[in-house]
Amino acid sequence: MTDHTRKKIADSKLIAWLDERLRVKDYLVKAMDTPVKPWSRKWYYCFGGLTLTMFLLLVITGIILFQHYSPTTEGAAKSVAFIMGSVWMGWLIRGIHHWAANFMMILVVAHMLRVFLTGAYKKPREMNWVIGVILLLGTGTFFLTGYIMPWDQRGYELASAVYGSLKSLPLVGNWFAGLISSSTTLGNEALGFFFTLHTVVLPLTLFALLLFHFVMIRRQHIADPL
Ligand code: HEM
Repeated sequence: MTDHTRKKIADSKLIAWLDERLRVKDYLVKAMDTPVKPWSRKWYYCFGGLTLTMFLLLVITGIILFQHYSPTTEGAAKSVAFIMGSVWMGWLIRGIHHWAANFMMILVVAHMLRVFLTGAYKKPREMNWVIGVILLLGTGTFFLTGYIMPWDQRGYELASAVYGSLKSLPLVGNWFAGLISSSTTLGNEALGFFFTLHTVVLPLTLFALLLFHFVMIRRQHIADPL
């Protein structure tokens, strides 16, 4: 951004109006004055921002899908068919949700590789790397629970595989399995568990972790290249 554009934004009527009420001008000027390091304009630095874009798309389309989806073994597949056939632009909303999820999974791995290969995980950014690993696990769980939602053949088999794998863990296995379902035949209880994870627990957790991720990046700035 040129000095002229920065000054034009800072001196605009809108910012003056907002500043009078919310005192935003100082923060805005500080944010706009943060220099963009030349190496961070390289193409392989785009993956973090693109992952965030996918996350935001997933939240928006997810809210619309949530309105029409029924989290019961009887109603899930029917509600998905209803979204595809009867909801205005439902096929498009579900399509965007599906592809954004797939792209987010690929992009988050690409972003992690970029951070690793440019050595950006080293001191003092270790904490952000650890937060990143939790974000990666969260994204993976998001992806997995999403495919369970339609409760079709694939969804049911995936839920059974997750249930079986967790149950076979030593010491904590039975406890985990009990959390998902009190009976070994998976039904409404299990679907409700995965639905709550997918629509409440994971979005809120990822949102909080991302906030922390970005505050740390603001504080530490993008790392110098190796
Ligand atoms: C939901 C997933 C994630 C999102 C939306 C996200 C977003 C971002 C963004 C926008 C940046 C700024 C620089 C850039 O764009 O490359 C960044 C930096 C960083 N991310 Fe992530 N990230 C995610 C997951 C991860 C993962 C899985 C790791 C590693 C395990 C990680 C570790 C880091 C580190 C260490 C930095 C600082 C890099 C530097 O200073 O050059 N992030 N992240």
